Amino acid sequence: MRKKIVAGNWKMNKTLQEGIELVKELTTVLANEKPNCDVVICTPFIHLASVAPTLKGTVMELGAENCADKASGAYTGEVSAAMVASTGAKYVILGHSERRAYYHEHAELLRDKVQLALANGLTPIFCIGEVLEDREAGEQEEVVHEQISNSLFDFSPEDFAKIVLAYEPVWAIGTGKTATAEQAQEMHAFIRKAVATKYGKEIADNCSILYGGSCNPKNAKELFANPDVDGGLIGGAALKCADFKGVIDGFNA
Ligand code: PGA
Repeated sequence: MRKKIVAGNWKMNKTLQEGIELVKELTTVLANEKPNCDVVICTPFIHLASVAPTLKGTVMELGAENCADKASGAYTGEVSAAMVASTGAKYVILGHSERRAYYHEHAELLRDKVQLALANGLTPIFCIGEVLEDREAGEQEEVVHEQISNSLFDFSPEDFAKIVLAYEPVWAIGTGKTATAEQAQEMHAFIRKAVATKYGKEIADNCSILYGGSCNPKNAKELFANPDVDGGLIGGAALKCADFKGVIDGFNA
């Protein structure tokens, strides 16, 4: 059975104190009302070690927003997958469109990052998604297929099965312009089919595919109701307790 996951991506927001405050608020509301999905909080590197103890014993897991493409050594300013794992984090977002666009992260580099994440026991949340021009040209499927196959399809079935996918149409990220439930379902079904073609039906059926891009308490329920949408990767709405809880409630009957 594939996991249902709501993961928050704080991006470059919140001081350490603000972050801990938010986690405490979430701990209280989620203890009172158990979520019907796994909940992951992905924070800036510098917050991980301090946030980890506050998440202990809660239903929430911790994740990073990135990791280095090298194992260790003279790479000033970088943070390795082993360092991320040593904080207690279990997940790492890789291939986010902001990393691809602003930091020029390409398919081969992302493959290396995924490999290091897996080698250190982290679950990669691997992001894929087309830009507006791709969609207007009707090329969203080709673009997304290429992103997955170029970075992930060299992995063994055992390794691929450990990866969570996040479909995030770039035109929907932070824009308030959400993909419709139909658009999301169509792309998620396409992605699952591509995984099935490469790795077989069982691995595809067990692969969690999250939707990301202006997901909020108002639209989460409709998005998550789709058979191939297994949860969300949440940016803006992960920054306030009530909003994030509202998204998590998208999985409540
Ligand atoms: P958003 O971001 O929810 O603010 O659109 C999602 C993401 O970038 O992961």
